[in-house]
Parts: sequence; C-alpha cells; structure tokens
Amino acid sequence: MLRDEDRIFTNIYGLKDRSLKGAMARGHWDGTKALLEKGRDWIINEVKASGLRGRGGAGFPTGLKWSFMPKESDGRPHYLVVNADESEPGTCKDRDIMRHDPHTLIEGCVVASFAMGAHTAYIYVRGEFIREREALQAAIDECYDYGLLGKNNKLGYDIDVFVHHGAGAYICGEETALLESLEGKKGQPRLKPPFPANMGLYGCPTTVNNVESIAVTPTILRRGAGWYTSFGRPNNHGTKLYSVSGHVNRPCTVEDAMSIPFHELIEKHCGGIRGGWDNLLAVIPGGSSVPCVPGAQMKDAIMDYDGLRELGSGLGTAAVIVMDKSTDIIKAIWRLSAFYKHESCGQCTPCREGTGWMMRVMERMVQGRAQKREIDMLFDVTKQVEGHTICALGDAAAWPIQGLIKHFRPEMEQRIDEYTRNATSHGAVLEA
Ligand code: NAI
Ligand code: SF4
Repeated sequence: MLRDEDRIFTNIYGLKDRSLKGAMARGHWDGTKALLEKGRDWIINEVKASGLRGRGGAGFPTGLKWSFMPKESDGRPHYLVVNADESEPGTCKDRDIMRHDPHTLIEGCVVASFAMGAHTAYIYVRGEFIREREALQAAIDECYDYGLLGKNNKLGYDIDVFVHHGAGAYICGEETALLESLEGKKGQPRLKPPFPANMGLYGCPTTVNNVESIAVTPTILRRGAGWYTSFGRPNNHGTKLYSVSGHVNRPCTVEDAMSIPFHELIEKHCGGIRGGWDNLLAVIPGGSSVPCVPGAQMKDAIMDYDGLRELGSGLGTAAVIVMDKSTDIIKAIWRLSAFYKHESCGQCTPCREGTGWMMRVMERMVQGRAQKREIDMLFDVTKQVEGHTICALGDAAAWPIQGLIKHFRPEMEQRIDEYTRNATSHGAVLEA
C-alpha cells in the first residue's frame, strides 16, 4: 500500500505550484549537489540496486543501461536523450509529469547526465504536446536563471538541457528513430546492435531513457534503493504511474506501488468498473502494443512485469485500457491495426506490407465478411510479421491480433456466422 508521502510525483494533477519555488518546497532539488558528490559509480550502483526498470514500456533495467556508457572518454561527447515522445495509445503519464511536475524531470536529467558523463541532455517531446513543451521550457529557463543548469552552475557540473519538439510521428518514439529525427533526418529506426550506448546521437555514446524513468531517479537516490525496493515484488520494484482509461467510473493517471492487484487499482482509484465487475469484458493492461486479457483473468491479475507476462500480456507503459461488455472487441482491435498501419515507417517489408494485410483482413472480420479458415490465416500473417522486422512496431501490430484470436475466437466465428446467415437470407429474399 502506497502512502501519500511515498509518492514521488507530488503534483501530478497540477493542483500545486509547479514553479521551481513550488518544486523545491515539495522536496525536489533538495541536496542535488550532495548526490553528485557521491560520484558516478555510487549513483549507477544505487539505481541498479533500486531495481528500477525502464518505464517507457520495455522494462530494461535502468542502472544496467547507464553502466553501458563508456567510463572513460575517447574524445566523443556523451549524451542523455529523454524520450518524451509519448504516443502509445492509452498512455498519458509522461505528459502529466511534463506539464505539472517538470522539475522532477529536469533534476533527473542532471543526475543521470552526471552519472554517464554527459554534459548535454535533449528532451524529445511529442509534436502534439504544446503545453507540455511550454511548461518544460519555462522550468528549464528557471533553472538557468537560478544557476542549476549551464556552465559554472551551483551544482558544480556543467550541463545544458534542450527541448526538441517532434513532428507527430509515433515511430519517433522508437529510440533510434528518435535519434535520427534529432539529427534532422527522417525518423526511421536503425538496426541494433550497435546500441546507442556505443553509437547513438551523432555517432556518440548515448543513453535514451523514458521521462518517468529519469524523473524518479533523484528521489530514489535521496531516499535510498532500499526504500524503492520496499514496493512491489522482486524483479518488479518501485512505484509506478498507471494511466487507466476506458470503461471505469473515474479514469485517471495515478502513482501507486508496482505489483498492486488490478482489482485494488480499479476500486481504489477509478471507482470500479462501469456497470460492475460482471460487466468487464477485457483489458489491455500495458498500452496498445500488448495483447488484451479477458476480464475473468484480469480480476486476479497482479500489475507488474511478471504478473502480466504470466497472463500472456505485459505491463508495457502501464496504460490500462478497460473495456466493458458494450465494446465491440473485434472493432477495437481493428482500430489498433489501422493505427499501426498508418504509423509504420515502411522501411521493412513484413511491417510495411503486413500491417496493411492485417488491417484489411481485420476490417472484414469486423463485418464478419470472411471465412472461418481466414482466422488461422490472419494468425499466420501475424507470425510472419512478429520478430521479422527492424523495430518493435511490427511485433506491436501483431500481438493485439494474436490476443484477440487467442481469447475471442468464438466471437469472431459468431460474427462470420451472422454475416453468412444474413447474406443467405438476404439472397433468399432477393430470389423470392
Ligand atoms: P527493447 O527491448 O529493444 O529495448 C529497451 C531498451 O533497452 C532500449 O533502450 C535498448 O537500447 C536497451 N537494450 C536492450 N537490449 C540491449 C543490449 N543487449 N545492450 C544494450 N542495450 C540494450 O525495446 P524498445 O524497442 O526500446 O521498446 C519497445 C517497447 O516500447 C514496447 O514494448 C512498448 O511497450 C513501448 N512503447 C512505448 C511507447 C510510449 O509512448 N511510451 C510507444 C511505443 C512503444
Ligand atoms: Fe519501420 Fe515497421 Fe520496420 Fe519498424 S518494423 S522499421 S516501423 S517498417
């Protein structure tokens, strides 16, 4: 159970003063210089010990990622790049950090940059996030004025933080496409390896981290790794921002402990499921890139990496999309297919062609204008795409459909039967 005083984000709803003065009054920027004086190794080891895993969706251990950056400089500058291109459908947590609690992110940029020997940090903000960019820039300006950023600052570590505004492409949230875009090129993913820690921005050692991952680190360092690991289960530690949308009584973004039971999350923060728990059809628990889980299985789900993986899904961005029994689940998943087709950068054939095929077959599945054997064919197409592409967008397009077929095949077959019956009786009427 997370107490109010355990929350890292103290202004996530924008009810308090988000300025530097307000942020300082709430405990941010407290003893930052002393944290830096403990040294790079101490910071990286503490973040490793905290068990913090990347909050952008993939859950890669943050401290380990930081440790990949070269210890000694070979003459190339090091960069920190914050991925604030939050675009995963259902996900709306990073935008709340940026517009309401921007100083958590800026202080995090200083600490993380110091730990990795970077003197420049870029925050790549999603194109549609105008207010967020403005709030972030205002907070950065305050930090320069107050002497927390720039050369010869009060913290004793030279660091510049720049906001870069994207142009509204989902694919630029993929870390290497983001780097290409930051370099002024077309935002298309690169092949990995090499990973950014070896060859990132302008060919230099770079770490790309999600907004939430960076914003939580100063508080972890102040309170200690042991405090952070006191929340959640082993391998799934810390606090987490969950964005809950869809058919709950009070959709919200909320910080609570990792490994919170799904039932508790919904009852405690969202006022329950619309129409009651018996009305729950399915949940997409981690943003649109993870498979849906039937309501009956979600009732006992544990909201963490392992708990949701055991259910064949994932925590992803912890964007919890709740669907009650009024939802046309086939249409909902078709809508995601259309999204991925639209956002595919077109660079690799299985994704460029496969997302179009999947969307078009799904379109017919929504109408029932298909044959039952095509359900297997559709599944086969998803398998041809999954794992055969440059970046994870191909997998992300395949998995929701796989989840649909796995859990809602009878509904798909019923739709086909209904269409066939109607078409036959319509034909009979015409013949008569
Ligand atoms: P990934 O698993 O390939 O990589 C995760 C991170 O770990 C990357 O920074 C990567 O460089 C690093 N990494 C992985 N293996 C490494 C190795 N061997 N050596 C060094 N570094 C290594 O996942 P990816 O493609 O970065 O992210 C996919 C996830 O992003 C999806 O699962 C989805 O949940 C999420 N996503 C989030 C969005 C958002 O708006 N927050 C948008 C779209 C997807
Ligand atoms: Fe582009 Fe899709 Fe290939 Fe990713 S998987 S590089 S989005 S075509």
